[in-house]
Amino acid sequence: MVRPVIFSGALLLLLSIPTSLGFKSQDFKTCAQAGFCRRGRALASRAQDNASWKSPYSVDSSSISVSSGEASFTAGVKSSLYPDVKFGLDVRIHDDGVVRVRMDEVDGLRKRYDEAASWALIAEPKLSREISWTVGKKDVRAVYGTKKENEVVVSLEPLRVSLLRNGKEQVVLNGRSLLHMEHYRTKESSRPEGTPEEGLDEDDAQVVVQVKPNAWFEGEVEDGYWEETFGGNTDTKPKGPESLSLDITFPNHGHVYGIPQHATHLDLPTTTGEDPTYSDPYRLWNSDVFEYLASSPVSLYGSIPVMHAHSAESTVAIFNAVASDTWIDVDHPTLKSTNTHWISESGILDVFIMPGPTPDDIFKQYAKLTGTSALPAHWALGHHQCRWNYISTDDVRSVQQRFDEHDMPVDVFWLDIEYAEEHKYFIWDKKMFPDPVDMMHDVEALGRKMVVIIDPHLKRTDNYPVYKEASDLGVLVKSKSGDAEYEGWCWSGSSAWIDFFNPGAWDWWRGLFKNTSQGDKWSWVDSTESTYIWNDMNEPSVFNGPEISMPRDNVHYGGWEHRDVHNINGMLLPNLTSQALVARSDPPKRPFVLTRSFYAGSQRFGAMWTGDNLGTWDHMAVGISMVLANGIAGMTFAGSDVGGFFGNPEPEMLVRWYQVGAFNPFFRAHAHIDTKRREPYLLDEPYRGMLRDILRLRYTMLPIWYTAFHDANIYGIPVLRPHYVVFPKDEAGFSLDDQYFIGDSGLLVKPVVHKDVTETDVYLAEDQVYYNYFSHYAYRGSSKGKHVTVPAALHEIPLLIRGGSIVTTRERPRRSSPLMQRDPFTLRVALDKVGYAKGQLYLDDGETFSHLEGNIVWRQFVAEKTAKKSKTIRITSSDLVSQNPDAAVEGVSLTKYDPLNAFAKSVESVRVEKMVVMGLGGKPKSVRVDGGEELVSEFTPGVAAEGKKEGAASVLIVKDPGVSIAKDWSIVIEV
Ligand code: NOJ
Repeated sequence: MVRPVIFSGALLLLLSIPTSLGFKSQDFKTCAQAGFCRRGRALASRAQDNASWKSPYSVDSSSISVSSGEASFTAGVKSSLYPDVKFGLDVRIHDDGVVRVRMDEVDGLRKRYDEAASWALIAEPKLSREISWTVGKKDVRAVYGTKKENEVVVSLEPLRVSLLRNGKEQVVLNGRSLLHMEHYRTKESSRPEGTPEEGLDEDDAQVVVQVKPNAWFEGEVEDGYWEETFGGNTDTKPKGPESLSLDITFPNHGHVYGIPQHATHLDLPTTTGEDPTYSDPYRLWNSDVFEYLASSPVSLYGSIPVMHAHSAESTVAIFNAVASDTWIDVDHPTLKSTNTHWISESGILDVFIMPGPTPDDIFKQYAKLTGTSALPAHWALGHHQCRWNYISTDDVRSVQQRFDEHDMPVDVFWLDIEYAEEHKYFIWDKKMFPDPVDMMHDVEALGRKMVVIIDPHLKRTDNYPVYKEASDLGVLVKSKSGDAEYEGWCWSGSSAWIDFFNPGAWDWWRGLFKNTSQGDKWSWVDSTESTYIWNDMNEPSVFNGPEISMPRDNVHYGGWEHRDVHNINGMLLPNLTSQALVARSDPPKRPFVLTRSFYAGSQRFGAMWTGDNLGTWDHMAVGISMVLANGIAGMTFAGSDVGGFFGNPEPEMLVRWYQVGAFNPFFRAHAHIDTKRREPYLLDEPYRGMLRDILRLRYTMLPIWYTAFHDANIYGIPVLRPHYVVFPKDEAGFSLDDQYFIGDSGLLVKPVVHKDVTETDVYLAEDQVYYNYFSHYAYRGSSKGKHVTVPAALHEIPLLIRGGSIVTTRERPRRSSPLMQRDPFTLRVALDKVGYAKGQLYLDDGETFSHLEGNIVWRQFVAEKTAKKSKTIRITSSDLVSQNPDAAVEGVSLTKYDPLNAFAKSVESVRVEKMVVMGLGGKPKSVRVDGGEELVSEFTPGVAAEGKKEGAASVLIVKDPGVSIAKDWSIVIEV
């Protein structure tokens, strides 16, 4: 039988498409095919060619109004091009030194979309009450910072905003005079009488041949102002031109990172200037791209308009709160500077400048704006098994059984769209899934969970209660007329889309996920409180829409066009879904929602993955830099499909892919419906054994991952930390994106992403000892940076522990992570070159919100010499909350916190069962808990941390020291 198969990003097809078809460039615009992007780039090239180019925008000095007591001022802005058009400027400095610059058209024909920031921010930022503006003849200035090192200068004529540190410019807006806010106009007023009608040029672009009065700045023609056709779809542009062009320069920063999501390097390659890597700008326009390329500036499923600029002296960042189609050119005019040019289709100018000066400061500043990543349920860090599709309840049961037979840990089984009758999400296909709740209970019996897909398109049929209720409530997206329900095609055939911008949809959506009857209202009674959710296709993906999405002239709540809100649209579904999951149980449990589409702030709602990657080495490699880029832009709970979504990877590739996955924050295997089954137990030996070992390794390391996620939750630092973040002064590491650190654990990993590898080089940025996690071989870095060769045969993962770290593991991997909750811990103490090490461990119940009431264990472990000249080491465990005022941030207030809280008591008897100390200076004379009996230990001589030698490190194994994980203790190793 020929099965109807619909591909992501393709029309309904009767036959399956061979995967060799590849990326369909004709489905997506290039900059040259988007009127406003063409205009923006043309503006930049006119500026480049014109030595006397000057910005037409200036601040009206008579209108400057400074708020009393707050670091904020407003002023009118004029454009010499259009003296009658008014703009308003608003510049504020927040209490943490972040500068927000807003500009909007005032009293225009319409209101520009100004709500992007309100979806991204957690609260209205507090303005500084200490910083004050000084209004001068030529500029408005403010000096601030602990050493008065920062200065913001808003120059009046032309308008230019710069942030300086110690007198040096760090960030400049409109320094290249490319600022242009196209004001609203009517067709008639814009086009002088007698000019010819619009026509088509040879590239099918709409043009009007006329010479405009402001041609030196805006170009001679009205290029794509009023209508635009692409791929057979016409965008009616009822508001006319409204784009926003802005240059942002980072004069002393030679590297820029961020603006996910693109399949490219972390250190963003250039798109303009001399010999650019890409000819098109990076694009931010959430898109479902079929078989995306492994190196490209093409926009993928999510958009975070956040860019870090970095040099050995400084890190700064910007968040450009815009939600419309945005293209970003990147160029390094010199090795040490970066020019960027941002061209957006609509919206106001709303830019946050984060002054840094270090990457960690940037993370804090950005987290203060948009929030940190939610602390996930502990099980969500386990191994997830997905495929399109497990086809029946029995299929799921049998997959679970085979994982258990093969002793392979897994926490979550996933169901893709085929569980749903005619792709009506929530509604089980009862032929294949006759007993869904029983199936879920079977899975839950082993501590596991299920994740089920719920997409945002609703099949338009009255026998689908979810569609019917949404339609009756009037909460569906409207087509361009503004009153008819928009109809497009997706998996479910003719579909409608919920408009989550409409508050009327919110309560209703939250109610759907209750697994008990809600009277007249439909609710998902065929689910359990352990059914979690996957939100896919939320860019939104519309198979017959322009660029596989919604028409830009569709209308959302409040009358906003889809073009204005597109990049935010995708984040509302996981936002509301995660709220629904919290609301369905009492007491509430932490939600888990995986999203494909995302925007700034999405980190508060759950995890993301990098979409439909290919089973190729290139995709495996780029998946790592994509996860790093998402992470530094806040979206740190990230991963890529293990195995590659498309294709049938050979066993070697699959093993490497699991190694990559096990070192991603989100670890899920997934595969397209046309691929062969490839669950890890299906491989032959030796591969199967290797996969088992990788899965078990991930489970042993869950305490490390959970602690890293906790740090991300408290401080906003990413779970995966690239080199420039850990060593911000080490130039040699600025472009590294194939090796990274896990949280602050000191673990440095470089997953192998090439065929036939037996060893690999790892870069060490400092003069420090690094130990091979598995063999305890001690490598020596150098203050000048050094590459060391690490074994990397197929069964080996290049994983090092940085000297100075203590990591905590649980070495009894079980079938699922909840079954490990009471298992004992192992401490690995990696002494540094001065005989010191430090680490932390965070624990809570992993599931509820009772951690916010102080039900946690947060320990610090320190290993240090008892006296400067001695080789004797004391290892102590102490409570970290009382030492850490920042912990109050998440509600764990110091006054409320009790080290003997209910959770701590519940794990009092959980002990440390083993300690591995690497790099001791000699064989210990005695090892004992302070004041206690001699412990059983075993010493293997080897290289000491304090020497300069490389080689097998000395290793002391302390057996069952019997100390509690939740209590203070100290162990003395007398050498
Ligand atoms: C597209 C998603 O990216 C993919 O992961 C999923 O399997 C298909 N949609 C079907 O739901």
